[in-house]
Order: sequence, then C-alpha cells, then structure tokens
Amino acid sequence: MEVIILKEPQQIAKKCADIFQETICQKHNAVLGLATGSTPILLYRELVDRYQKQLLSFENVVTFNLDEYVGLAPEHPQSYSYFMQQHLFKYINISSKNTHLPNGIAQNPIRESREYEEKIREYGIDLQLLGLGSNGHIGFNEPTSSLGSQTRIKTLAQQTIEDNSRFFSADEFQPTLAITMGIGTIMFAKRVVLLAIGEKKARAIQQAIEGPISAWCPASALQMHPHTTFIIDEEAAQFLQ
Ligand code: F6R
Repeated sequence: MEVIILKEPQQIAKKCADIFQETICQKHNAVLGLATGSTPILLYRELVDRYQKQLLSFENVVTFNLDEYVGLAPEHPQSYSYFMQQHLFKYINISSKNTHLPNGIAQNPIRESREYEEKIREYGIDLQLLGLGSNGHIGFNEPTSSLGSQTRIKTLAQQTIEDNSRFFSADEFQPTLAITMGIGTIMFAKRVVLLAIGEKKARAIQQAIEGPISAWCPASALQMHPHTTFIIDEEAAQFLQ
C-alpha cells in the first residue's frame, strides 16, 4: 500500500488525475470505478480541464459508480446519477451507454444488485476511485460489512445519514438505503485510489492504514489489496505514526 500526503486539495486532485490519465492513456477502453460526495469534485474538475485541453479522451472509457440511493430516480437532483452528470459526464465525450450506476428505482433492487455485480465482474475494473466515510466506510459498506461482500442493498449508518444530511434541505426526503458495490467487489479492481481530505477523516484514515484489518473499519480491507494508493492531506494524516 502506498500513502501519499499532500498539502492542498488541489494537489490531491492533480495527483489523482495523473493516475486516471495514465490509466486511460495506457488503455483507451479503461474501465473506471467512480465515487460521488464532496471529495472527488476537484478531481472531476481537473479531468474535465484535461479533456478540454485534449490531454484525455473518454470516447471508449467505461464507468461503474460505487453506489446509488434506493428510492431516487436518476433525474432526481440528489441522486448519484444526477451528481455524475453535473460534475463529470455532461462535460466530457463519454457515451451514455458506457456509464453505469445502480438503478435506485429498480422494481427488484435485489436482482438489480446481482446484475450490477455480474456486469462489473464481466468488465473488470482497471481503476477504482474511493472516498472515505468518517466511520471508515467505502462505497456504502458501513462498519460490520462483510469483507467479502458483493453489490447489495445496505442500510446507511446513522453517522452516514448525519454526514450526508448537508446535501439535503430540512424538508427533503433523505434515503436511508443504498445499492452499493461490496468490499469484495472493490477488492476485485486492479488498482484502487482512495482520497481523503480534512480532519474529519483522520481517525478513519488511521484505522484504515494502521489499524487491524477488521469489518469495523471497512477501508482496512484495502491493506490486503495488491495495488492501493491513499492520497490524503495533512489533516487527514494527523494520527498516522
Ligand atoms: C460516494 C461513496 C461514499 C463517499 C464517502 C465520503 O459514492 O461511496 O463512500 O465517498 O461517504 O463522502 P465525502 O467525500 O462527501 O466526504
């Protein structure tokens, strides 16, 4: 496992964009695993910028997002599908048939989860991007998730609901269930990059990198992954030995 500590969020975005660029330049039809939330926003801006400067083409790139809220349609402003459109997809030359997210309003979310997992296994993810929950979650694999888990429906932890309440207005419905890739799904990716910014993530970073491998900190499973890079800022790194 490699840990890169940088000063500014902008440097984190650029370093991570370098890894994305390298992956796509080596393989024009690379399969990327993507995340939402506040952490990757600067990275997506950097990727759009590099696309506009013609340093990158997404023409043949395929993407799979980590997760989607159960109960939100793709056009709902709080859905992760909408987030991806607003922050990345609408600015780049990616084909909509190549972008995949779980369908949050599938009639049968159990079958939707199984089929999503099967599609990921069929394509194989070359580079998986992750953020980190303040409770150590990756995707929506909350503490106590099985380290071998596959794509499935998860109930969000109270901590996650509180952390994400900042994205919802007071009178707005906030989902408590999500379809998420499992920890086993994430571990199947050839390369993983996890980004973490700010002191709120410091305890989870310490547990993930230096703690025991445990379902209490789902990100600690990455210690067993053969090619994982953590790119974090000094605040998130403050408890590392
Ligand atoms: C998002 C996801 C989550 C977030 C995590 C951190 O697709 O799967 O695991 O990466 O909750 O969120 P932010 O970046 O908002 O702190």
